Formats: sequence, C-alpha cells, structure tokens
Amino acid sequence: MPRVFSGIQPTGDPHIGNYFGAMKNYVRLGEEYGKNSIYCVVDLHAPTNPNAYDPRQLAARTLEMAVANMAAGLDPEKVIFFAQSHVPEHTELAWLFTVITPVGELERMTQYKDKAQKLESTPAGLLMYPVLQAADILLYKADTVPVGEDQVQHIELTREIARKFNHQFGEMFPEPRAVLAKDALRIPGVDGQGKMSKSKGNTIGILEPLDSIWQKLRPAPTDPARVRRTDPGDPDKCLIGDYHKLFSDLPTIETVYEGCRTAGIGCVDCKKMLMVGITRELTPIQERAAELRADPVRVRDVLAQGAKEARQIAAPVMEEAREKVGFLKL
Ligand code: TYM
Repeated sequence: MPRVFSGIQPTGDPHIGNYFGAMKNYVRLGEEYGKNSIYCVVDLHAPTNPNAYDPRQLAARTLEMAVANMAAGLDPEKVIFFAQSHVPEHTELAWLFTVITPVGELERMTQYKDKAQKLESTPAGLLMYPVLQAADILLYKADTVPVGEDQVQHIELTREIARKFNHQFGEMFPEPRAVLAKDALRIPGVDGQGKMSKSKGNTIGILEPLDSIWQKLRPAPTDPARVRRTDPGDPDKCLIGDYHKLFSDLPTIETVYEGCRTAGIGCVDCKKMLMVGITRELTPIQERAAELRADPVRVRDVLAQGAKEARQIAAPVMEEAREKVGFLKL
C-alpha cells in the first residue's frame, strides 16, 4: 500500500491555491489509505523566512492551519495529522541529509532563489529548507506526496537525496513521487500576476469572509480584450474563467463561457455567478471552522494524538538511519 505524506506551512491563511492544489488531495488520499496517509503542519519550516514569520503568532497559526484542514474534510480519526515540531526526528534526519546534499543543488532551487532575493541576509535555514522537507517525507518512508506544481522541484531533490543515502549507506528509502491535482496545478492569484501565494498577498482565503472575497473579486482583472461591456471576451484568458472551473457547476460554466464569448454577459454578472459557487463551496468549511475554533482543546488533543502516532512510525526509521550512518549504539 502506498504511504502518503504531505505538509503545509502555517505562514498565513490557507488559500484556494492550497485547497484545490493540495488539501483536497490530502482528504481524497486519506479516505483511500487511512493511517497510511500522514499530514503535517510544518511549523519548523516557518521561521526559515523572516519575512513571513512572527514568533508571537506561530502557535496560533499552527492551530488555525490545523483547523482549516479539519474543516476542509481531513478526518484525524482516519489519517495521521500532527505538527512537525512535536516530532523531533524530523530535524534529526534532516541533519543526516545535510551532510549528503550538495550546496549547489540547494542554491538551484527556484523557491530559495525567489525568497532569498527579497532578504538582505539569507539565513542558512532557508537554503536547508528542502533538506528538511526531504526528511519530512522520508522519515515515514513515504512514496506518494500530494502537492501543487511549485513543490515538484523539491520532491525531485528528495528523490536524489534518497538515492544518494541508499547508495552511500545501504538501501533504506523509497524514491517518492509528487501527486498533482490535474486541474489545479498552479492556481492564479486574484491580482492576475501569476501564482496565488501567501507571500504575494494575492490570495482568496478559504476561511475568508465572503464579503471580503467579493471586495477582491470585484476589481479583479478579466480578459484585457474586453474593454467595453459589448466586446466579446475569451474566458480561457480570464482569471474569473479559471476560477469558475474550480467552483461552478457545469451548466454555469457553459453559460458564462458562452456569454463571455458572445458578450452576452458582463464581467460583473460573471463574477456574481462565481460568488454563488464560492459561497456553496466555502460556507460549510467556514461553519466547521467556527465550531473547531470554539473548541481549541479538541484541536490540541488531535495534534497530540497525531504526534504520538507519527512518532511510532518515525522512531524506528530514525533508529535504522542512525545505524546505517554508523553511530555508536549504547
Ligand atoms: P505551502 O505551505 O506553501 O503550500 C501548501 C500546498 O499548497 C500548494 N499550493 C498551490 N497549489 C496550486 N496552486 C497554487 N497557487 C498553490 N499555492 C500553494 C503547494 O504546492 C503545497 O502543496 N514546502 C511546502 C511544505 C512542505 C511539504 C513537506 C510538502 C514541507 N515539508 C513535505 C510536502 C511534503 C510548502 O511550502 O507548502
């Protein structure tokens, strides 16, 4: 049976890119593989980017990311769900991987380059970020990693690290593969300027109040060819067209696509129809989130239980890795 692992950073409100690109796959694979699917709020990764981290908020954001995933349908009774800092083996395995990972490979990582160029001084932890990510996955000998397209390069590096470790110390780790949500590889941001991302501030949050979402959608760019209401447009070149594919039912998609091409529908009406789909998808999630927020003890208990279950798998793997690398056993 496959072993699934994925992680999500507690660095801001989860957005629809996270949701369609990754979180929905966590739920789907969780239904299929039960306790062989392991999901983690990766709080140790958060401080690697000083621009997106505040020590006073980390704990609350970790809880909030747990709430968001549970509200989106992740069932901690069925899967293993925990926070990374509660399982110390993650950092220990990461250290063993740092000694076999070439610095040049890490400097090549697109996400590293993007983040580092915005910083005056680059913390070593930002460079090591993908090594910790490899440890997250391989600590559970996971072979299946649901992520968005932006993480594929990190999963490739994970495969290389696994290969190198196996070659140097003896066969131990699988070479994991990324599982992508085909229709949600790279959800665009609401500013129309490329990928939706927490750091760009162009997100639609899954827990964001609906009126705030509407305030963002109303001025959002559409097909630039549609200067006047009477100009025909191309919904395939329009952000709102992309979002309809995520949120709307088929008849609505057909109506707005046809209406856009024939100038039969204006952009504001098209956006209002999108809001119907958004409301339908997000309202139940937001209601469940409100219930969970009202019971933070329950969410903490879930994470405590998840960490226990995770350690049961992680501890023997770590023991095996220590032996392979040759440490003295007492
Ligand atoms: P993070 O927290 O940035 O994002 C969580 C997941 O959401 C996906 N995603 C998107 N998918 C489609 N369109 C978008 N616009 C979009 N934005 C984000 C991401 O690809 C990701 O799957 N490095 C990881 C966290 C991590 C991890 C791991 C993942 C740490 N250890 C081990 C998998 C396995 C990250 O920064 O995700």
